[in-house]
Amino acid sequence: MRTTVEPTSDSVAWDETHLADPHSEADKAQRVNAMFDAIAESYDLNNRLHSLWRDQSWRKRAVRLARVTPGQDAVVDVACGTGDLSLAFARAKPASVIGIDFVPRMIKLAQEKSSKLETLVTPEFRVGDAMNLDLPDGCCDIVSIAFGIRNVSDPQKAIHEFKRILRPGGRLVILEFSTPRNPVMRGLYNFYFHSIMPRTATWISGDRSGAYKYLPRSVSTFVTRDRMIEMMQTAGFESVRPHPMTLGICVVYLGLVPPVSA
Ligand SMILES: C[S@@+](CC[C@H](N)C(=O)[O-])C[C@H]1O[C@@H](n2cnc3c(N)ncnc32)[C@H](O)[C@@H]1O
Repeated sequence: MRTTVEPTSDSVAWDETHLADPHSEADKAQRVNAMFDAIAESYDLNNRLHSLWRDQSWRKRAVRLARVTPGQDAVVDVACGTGDLSLAFARAKPASVIGIDFVPRMIKLAQEKSSKLETLVTPEFRVGDAMNLDLPDGCCDIVSIAFGIRNVSDPQKAIHEFKRILRPGGRLVILEFSTPRNPVMRGLYNFYFHSIMPRTATWISGDRSGAYKYLPRSVSTFVTRDRMIEMMQTAGFESVRPHPMTLGICVVYLGLVPPVSA
């Protein structure tokens, strides 16, 4: 592994003073690392409950859009967390799956989950940083990142890194929260996401890191859909398309590496 991020020693990763624009915090990586270390054990339960059991179908759609060639494609799932997207890819029977996350506790949970499931392809889980992957150039066919790009401190740098490790003809799949475009749906969703979810998720996890205040703030202050597309194009991806899901709460962005590198 080339780099690791040490969690901050503060038990509160995100308080009001750091939440105005969490993406501009100089120590965002340390705060994000500490936050995921704190909520790792209850992470899956909160995902299922607060997405009303939609989160796994969002990941399955991301896998379908990646068009895995069974037995051939090498998949790298970055910011893999507890491994749900890595395992969804494993079920599509690619040649291999590597899941990478910078929180060791998340990697441990992913390994434990994977060992209890029977998939023909067993993902390999490693600790590593999205912006500095310990993988050679052009080593894989699919790079995925679900609900992770918003959390890295320099998304453009990470997207360049994804392009570096992809072969010509490879695909980048980014699954990320967005905001519904319909004003009525947006109002209802914002009330749920900003006023209800932070309380219930904090209560369920017993969290003191501020993770579920950070979540809605990090979505509302993150880049627009158009800017995400622009960042992928800047890194050299072609045919970049957004695929909104569940009224636009989530979007899968798919981009292709040109078949022959320029
Ligand atoms: C919201 S979770 C998503 C986990 C998983 N992809 C999923 O679908 O549930 C975001 C993950 O990104 C990881 N992460 C954030 N910044 C990272 C970085 N720079 N490098 C690697 N992992 C990172 C966190 O540790 C966390 O596990």
